[in-house]
Amino acid sequence: MQLIDNLEWRYATKHFDPGKKVSETQLKQIKKAIQLSASSYGLQLYKALIIEDISTREKLKPASWDQQQITEASHLIVFCNYTNLQRKHIDNFLALKSETQQLPLSELKGYGDFMEGKINEKSDEELKHWTAKQTYLALGNLLAACAELKIDACPMEGFEADKYDNILGLSQKGLTASVIAAIGYRSEEDQTQYHRKVRKPTEQLFETI
Ligand SMILES: Cc1cc2nc3c(=O)[nH]c(=O)nc-3n(C[C@H](O)[C@H](O)[C@H](O)COP(=O)(O)O)c2cc1C
Repeated sequence: MQLIDNLEWRYATKHFDPGKKVSETQLKQIKKAIQLSASSYGLQLYKALIIEDISTREKLKPASWDQQQITEASHLIVFCNYTNLQRKHIDNFLALKSETQQLPLSELKGYGDFMEGKINEKSDEELKHWTAKQTYLALGNLLAACAELKIDACPMEGFEADKYDNILGLSQKGLTASVIAAIGYRSEEDQTQYHRKVRKPTEQLFETI
């Protein structure tokens, strides 16, 4: 299975070669993989910022535990989820579904009310986690897509979301940073690429009932 070979190949890259850039064609493929990610109800309650601009990344680095991947990588992808869920998020999705699948909007109203009801059952804290969790599925697809394209990547949670929100003006857009990924090409000097993968044995990780 090609996917397994790709997953064996990839590793959380610590040092990128700053001279090597991911091409526009490859970026387009990575974006497609993110776009096709599954999400709860299909609502896609997030956005992904693709940051190439080095001065922006230099501002983000101190807010990212000073991790060098932020500035060494070709691009930094910042996944951000919406913080203030409103009926308009549902209605926008229903309008898109109606247009894409050629369904009358009136037929989708019940589904919209169902989603709204279920969402309203969640506390603010639960909603925050629920929307942030969706971005991790997109992150997983990004990692798999990059591995297939032989592009290196590092998924990262080592950053301060509130500082990212300020620097990138996310709060004004009703967004907050949830998880990030640096993508590019590994530096030959990155020793991590030679480390063996550390994974729990399958008998510990799985249980068949
Ligand atoms: C959600 C998440 C957050 C992570 N945050 C960081 C990070 O901030 N910095 C870093 O160097 N690696 C980070 N990692 C990488 C993990 O340490 C790495 O995936 C794990 O050790 C397994 O190694 P592998 O990905 O090389 O197989 C993160 C991984 C995930 C999935």
